[in-house]
Amino acid sequence: MLPSKLELQSFPRRNDAEIAVAAEIADLIHDRNQEGLPTVLGLATGSTPIGVYAELVRRHREQGLDFSAVTTFNLDEFVGLSPQHPASFHAFMDQHLFSKVNLPKDQTHVLAGHLPMEALEEECASFEDRIRQAGGIDFQLLGIGRNGHIGFNEPPSSGDSRTRLVTLDATTHRAYQDGFAAGEMPNYALTMGVATILESRRIVLAALGEVKADIMLALQGTFDDPDLPASFLHRHPNAALVLDAPAGSKLKDPTGSQAGGK
Ligand code: GLP
Repeated sequence: MLPSKLELQSFPRRNDAEIAVAAEIADLIHDRNQEGLPTVLGLATGSTPIGVYAELVRRHREQGLDFSAVTTFNLDEFVGLSPQHPASFHAFMDQHLFSKVNLPKDQTHVLAGHLPMEALEEECASFEDRIRQAGGIDFQLLGIGRNGHIGFNEPPSSGDSRTRLVTLDATTHRAYQDGFAAGEMPNYALTMGVATILESRRIVLAALGEVKADIMLALQGTFDDPDLPASFLHRHPNAALVLDAPAGSKLKDPTGSQAGGK
């Protein structure tokens, strides 16, 4: 096996993992606020980050964690869905974070998948420009699909891919169809590219629950493989995998073989 630079953090319970991820984000925001610096976060949707966002909201309410100098970029969004549709990632972010903290709306960036098809290429280029203008992403939060996707970088996705229009695969369709009426589930999405994600200065991929055990095992033995898009993370100099015990249950040596495990 090639050496991985991925730091492995394993926690007994889901909630411990969620709190650890939220604490890292909160500390980053706090430290940068103290220094008078803005913080640029890359954010994810799905079931995995819900507990992380809940803990960030708690820290905002109870400890005054200040989001006024935070800028956010979300990984992805469905194409052809109004931002008000309850299954859109716009709505998800409003529900779980944006409406609950003091994050100015104009500092949040979610890809505008509702625009007409002919405007989407320009939207993707503009999104990349906005990340650059913000100074790049300080901290990128990732989940992982059961097929190994990060964002909506479905297999196969190259390590050079940028923000673009993608076709959703069958695994993703199955994962999301409950949120849609029959025939309403979009076939396309916009996603930050693998290369765009890898430019983040810090990346944390959270994988929680037994449902992620098989893809974690596959990730442990796979490097730079477009068929497992998360495998490009192994070469990032500052990335961590945060697992609860069920997600790590099939790993060989879940606590040791990767650098920095605890
Ligand atoms: C989705 C999102 C990903 C997310 C993944 C896992 O399709 N586009 O960004 O990480 O699936 O979702 P969950 O956390 O619900 O398992």
